[in-house]
Amino acid sequence: MTQAPALREVLDESSAWSLLRALAKRASSGQPLRRARGLAFDRRGELREVPPEMGLFSVDPDGEPAFRMAAHVAPSVAQMLDLYLPLCVGDGKTSLVFAHMGQSLDAQIATSTGASRYVTGPENIQHMHRLRALADAVVVGAATVDCDDPQLTTRLVPGDNPTRVVIDPALRLAPRRRLFQEDAAPTIVVCACGARAGTERIGRAEIVEVEAEGRVLPPAAIVEALSRHGLRRIFVEGGGITVSRFLEARVLDRLHVTICPIFIGKGRPGVCLPAIDRLDDALRPRARRFDFGDDMLFDCNLARAS
Ligand SMILES: NC(=O)c1ccc[n+]([C@@H]2O[C@H](COP(=O)([O-])OP(=O)(O)OC[C@H]3O[C@@H](n4cnc5c(N)ncnc54)[C@H](OP(=O)(O)O)[C@@H]3O)[C@@H](O)[C@H]2O)c1
Repeated sequence: MTQAPALREVLDESSAWSLLRALAKRASSGQPLRRARGLAFDRRGELREVPPEMGLFSVDPDGEPAFRMAAHVAPSVAQMLDLYLPLCVGDGKTSLVFAHMGQSLDAQIATSTGASRYVTGPENIQHMHRLRALADAVVVGAATVDCDDPQLTTRLVPGDNPTRVVIDPALRLAPRRRLFQEDAAPTIVVCACGARAGTERIGRAEIVEVEAEGRVLPPAAIVEALSRHGLRRIFVEGGGITVSRFLEARVLDRLHVTICPIFIGKGRPGVCLPAIDRLDDALRPRARRFDFGDDMLFDCNLARAS
């Protein structure tokens, strides 16, 4: 009988990515990995659980790092697991919300005219596509659609396209935008109650209403509305206003900030929170650093923020 290959023989970047996607899929279907388990691929290449002591590779959802490796793997594979595993576990009942900002050394994410292609390097662009592939939904603000007319697909990496979500409180975006016309993935537009005024759809996109508080759609209410659509693993991709509102509302579990050695000057800011008087009141998350080509990524664990 042929033996299944040992993990050290198969765990290269491509199979590590398959493993992460399989774990994310499990979490999306409400069956996340809950306890420390050993993991292996079977002969058909399917993910298989084994007791932790038998696994060359074991995942511990509560651990930091979230995995242990009994066999040597390439540093790039270890970094990949270290960075993405925390996004592939969770309790499966509550939502997991993570965000990313790619910014300059002077904390800008775009020029004043909204040009942002590309602030960060190719490694980080691939990273954003990976974050999309690990999510059920990718969320952007209306200004990002206005400036970029993005597709929000996973075209640079293997993986399913997430549902695209645009926060457009007053439904100001024109239906000709690519997200509303192309069928690469479903699109949802989140607006304030009453803004739709009888409109059923914008192009192919479904409209979902959320009760506004003043001019703001509360991020927790947006997450809840998406959860009712079966979308629980949510990636907030930008821009700065959108991510800042999620951060201010304490709705983010993790925030990735990638800093690129470029100075943009006064443009569109990244994270922007209300002023505080005392440094003691600052949000100080536990953060890990990852080298990303010329860029540096900070992975902020906000669930553990003091
Ligand atoms: N470097 C990066 O990581 C990155 C990522 C994405 C985008 N970008 C760039 O960022 C720029 C856009 O960013 P931005 O900060 O100006 O805007 P944004 O975050 O894309 O969009 C902000 C707008 O979205 C709506 N919105 C978002 N959250 C809301 C909420 N909770 N409640 C109510 N409305 C909400 C509001 O629309 P209304 O104005 O209609 O009220 C708000 O003004 C573009 O230049 C884009 O290219 C950079």
